[in-house]
Amino acid sequence: MTDSSLRVLLSAAEIQARIQELGKQITADYPSGTLQLICILKGACFFLADLARAIDREVRVDFMGISSYGKGKTSSGEVRVTKDLDISLEDSDVLVVEDIVDSGVTLNYLIHILEQRRPKSIRVAALLDKPDRRLRPVHVSYVGFRIPDEFVVGFGLDYAEKYRNLNDICVLQEPPGAPGQCLLAG
Ligand code: IMP
Ligand code: MG
Repeated sequence: MTDSSLRVLLSAAEIQARIQELGKQITADYPSGTLQLICILKGACFFLADLARAIDREVRVDFMGISSYGKGKTSSGEVRVTKDLDISLEDSDVLVVEDIVDSGVTLNYLIHILEQRRPKSIRVAALLDKPDRRLRPVHVSYVGFRIPDEFVVGFGLDYAEKYRNLNDICVLQEPPGAPGQCLLAG
C-alpha cells in the first residue's frame, strides 16, 4: 500500500525478528505448565498470532475487548470492558498481550480487574512502549520496541480503524481530517 502520509518506523522483518526473541525469552521464563495468553482486542491480535507461535510451550488463548473514549489519538481514562474472557484465570500463569502501552490507562485498569480473578501469576507483553506518555504506572515484562512519542499504525494498530493490515509499523505523519471525539477500541 503506498500512502505518502506513512513513514516506516519498524519494518516487517525487524518486527518478526524481535517477536522470535520475545518468544524464546518467554519460553525460558515459563519452564513448565500452560501459559494463558490474553489478547487485548483488536490491535494485539496480529502480535498475538506471531508471538503464540514463537513460544515453545503449551499456550491457551482468550480475548478481551476494552474501549476508552478520547479525542482522536488519546484516551481519556474512561475504560470499559466490551468483551470479557470466556475462561477462568484461577491458578493460571497469565500473559496479557497488548499492541502498545501509551498512557498506561488501559492496562493499569485491566491488570487491576484481572488480579481480582486470582491468577497464579500475571505479566504483560507489549509489542510497543511509548514511555514518555505514561500517566499511570504499568509494569511491562516483555517489550518489543520502545518508541518515541509519535502516532503509529500498522501490524494491528489503527487510526479510525484504518491501516491495521500493514506489515510494517509506520508513523502517521498527516492524519486525515481534524480529530473529533471518537472511540479508541484497541
Ligand atoms: P493507553 O493510552 O496506554 O491506555 O492505550 C490505549 C490504546 O490506545 C492502545 O491499546 C492502542 O489501541 C491505542 N493507541 C495508543 N497509542 C497508539 C498509537 O500510536 N497508534 C495506534 N493506537 C494507539
Ligand atoms: Mg490496544
